[in-house]
Amino acid sequence: MALLGPPGCGKGTQGAALRERFGSAHVSTGELLRAAVKDGSELGLAAAAVMAEGKLVPDDLVLGLVEEQLNGHGRDNYLLDGFPRTLAQASAFDTASDSGSYELDHVVALDVPEAELVRRLCGRRSCVDCGRSYHLEFRPPSREAVCDACEGTLEQRADDVEESVRARLGIYRDQTAPLLGFYGEKGILNKIDGTGNPSEVTARILEALGG
Ligand code: AP5
Repeated sequence: MALLGPPGCGKGTQGAALRERFGSAHVSTGELLRAAVKDGSELGLAAAAVMAEGKLVPDDLVLGLVEEQLNGHGRDNYLLDGFPRTLAQASAFDTASDSGSYELDHVVALDVPEAELVRRLCGRRSCVDCGRSYHLEFRPPSREAVCDACEGTLEQRADDVEESVRARLGIYRDQTAPLLGFYGEKGILNKIDGTGNPSEVTARILEALGG
């Protein structure tokens, strides 16, 4: 299954809920890339500046990363979060499907109005240690700037400042939104209203997927 939608629509939040429900391996390209940046690996060095500006990391780097994950977990049930994100990525994944390596059964596209996306992203804080996500207004931590789960420090992501958020939304419209048509034609697209509280959104997704 793949989770598709603009920045801040709730891919990470819903990914965590669906991973528990289906026992899937959760492959988030954003999380993997942030981990690479933190580690200072070759991939991280190539991706850091691009990500901070809100632009997309080159397709070949992302495809290599995803392939490594899909071959590495040895599972038959994957939840892709933030991938594919361009028509080139979707086509490359399709080619792998044709060769029998992987098959995408469902694409869940979360729909949230742009003003709400900006509010969600600018208020998000993430734990530098475990990556858990909070929101200053909608999901505040018990103690200011401290992670409830691991007591790590909460920080704003470099790409969650308003200028980068606006750039990310523009890139979503230009490069990722065309995937809605691509997967719609294949008959595997489920468009879901991503507003309301997270558990309401999860319930809508589960209903669309047939429980
Ligand atoms: P990525 O990490 O994938 O970022 P994104 O797509 O911009 O999405 P976000 O993580 O910002 O938001 P989300 O939809 O997961 O929402 P979340 O659940 O966190 O990618 C980051 C960067 O990596 C990209 O810009 C690019 O540079 C690079 N990259 C990644 N994949 C790539 C690819 N395939 N190709 C090329 N480059 C790639 O929620 C957001 C906030 O809202 C949180 O605070 C949360 O608590 C809150 N919230 C969630 N749901 C609700 C709700 N229902 N009500 C109220 N608040 C909510």
